[in-house]
Amino acid sequence: MITDADLAPLLACPRCDRTPLTRKADAWHCGACRVDFPVLDGMPCLFATPGATLGEWRGRLHAELRRLQQDAKRLDSALADTALGALTRRRLEHRRDASRAHHDQLRDLLEPLLGGHPAAGAETYLALRTRPALDQGLTTYYANAHRDWCWGDEENRLSVELIERIVAAHSRPRRMLVLGCGAGRLARDLHELFGCEATVALDFNPLLMLIAARMFRGDALSLHEFPIAPRTLEDQAVERTLRAQPARPGLLPVLGDALRPPFAAGSFDTVVTPWLLDILPEAPAATAARINRLLEPEGQWIGFGSLSFSHADPALCLSLEETEAMIETSGFDKPEIIEAEIPYMCSPASRHGRREEVVTFRAARRHDVAQPERHVALPDWLVTGKDPVPMLPHFQMQTLTSRVQLFILSLIDGKRTLADMASTMEAQQLMTRAEAEPALRSFFERLYEESRQERRF
Ligand SMILES: C[S@@+](CC[C@H](N)C(=O)[O-])C[C@H]1O[C@@H](n2cnc3c(N)ncnc32)[C@H](O)[C@@H]1O
Repeated sequence: MITDADLAPLLACPRCDRTPLTRKADAWHCGACRVDFPVLDGMPCLFATPGATLGEWRGRLHAELRRLQQDAKRLDSALADTALGALTRRRLEHRRDASRAHHDQLRDLLEPLLGGHPAAGAETYLALRTRPALDQGLTTYYANAHRDWCWGDEENRLSVELIERIVAAHSRPRRMLVLGCGAGRLARDLHELFGCEATVALDFNPLLMLIAARMFRGDALSLHEFPIAPRTLEDQAVERTLRAQPARPGLLPVLGDALRPPFAAGSFDTVVTPWLLDILPEAPAATAARINRLLEPEGQWIGFGSLSFSHADPALCLSLEETEAMIETSGFDKPEIIEAEIPYMCSPASRHGRREEVVTFRAARRHDVAQPERHVALPDWLVTGKDPVPMLPHFQMQTLTSRVQLFILSLIDGKRTLADMASTMEAQQLMTRAEAEPALRSFFERLYEESRQERRF
């Protein structure tokens, strides 16, 4: 079984990269930075600014719990209508009860995050520029946990088989890191398959990591799934039991940021990035260089996923060919590649499920490469507040559209029609009446539709 003594040489401080960290009674400690990294449900939380980052996630959890309470209230109001048909009443009651039960289940599961460790102020993570990306919500990949530990056997099995195939002719992983492990199923399955001495499963999302930690221990968990396109009335919300056999010793969950990996150089013979390379908010070559550093000299990088980059900078949205070339210029041999179609997120309760052609690659490390700067989530003008706010092209566009939108919204007085507003816009020389009327209609159509849309889990 892997002990703290085994783990210590792998870990490095995510603030100063120094190693080793020392184990205190209830935390890991960096003597150079004089920072304690707390332990959450047995997991080291190796964020550069642990208090602030956990505080940010705690804030997101509170927002999610509030949303579930509001959802239940909104459903209660709808249920007050005595003219509802019996089936509609049943559906609304089912959804309301599920929202309430799910609220309590999330609160209990995330109790280690809610309790203890007071949140540091926002200024701390501003100062250290490590705020978790806003598009990575607490529940963004929540459905993955149900696939991992309940209904996703086919997808889970095929994913492991692809990685097994690409490793087959090479040495088996002994010390493996799975970066962006989500709820942890692939990390667990690979750890078992290869019989690793140590597998570190890292993600920055505490909801997914608390699920992973429970599954690695062989617990069972009740959680609700809210399918995207429910097949039946009852499928609107389905209570599932997530469960697993206890994992072999040596499988270790770590809360941390892949952009500041808290590990010593050369700690692993294998780094796996499942569905991660294309979602990180940095140049893929910077991620490749960080992975290169974490690997021992003859180590291997295994990538898995659909390689669907969506950076604002089009130069970073690499094709497969560019990804191969980028890997080679990042100190690796030419990667071996398997392309294969697998089912993706096909919940039995949903009509919505995909097939994805995934790319599995394996690249052997050949030499060191220069390391990128430490990742910075926010620019100085936001952090220090002392530099002028730059007029970025996006801000310029936003300013113009907001001005027009604000003007249009100011025309709402409960009396004016669309035609009246179009005349006002013509009088203000913003648009001709003929142009303004359809433009106003589509603007209000969108707002109206947004006001009627339900936010789904
Ligand atoms: C597309 S999901 C894939 C999850 C998992 N590998 C799977 O296949 O289910 C991407 C994962 O990366 C994690 N992630 C995103 N940015 C991260 C970061 N900077 N550090 C650590 N994890 C990150 C997310 O929380 C999420 O679990």
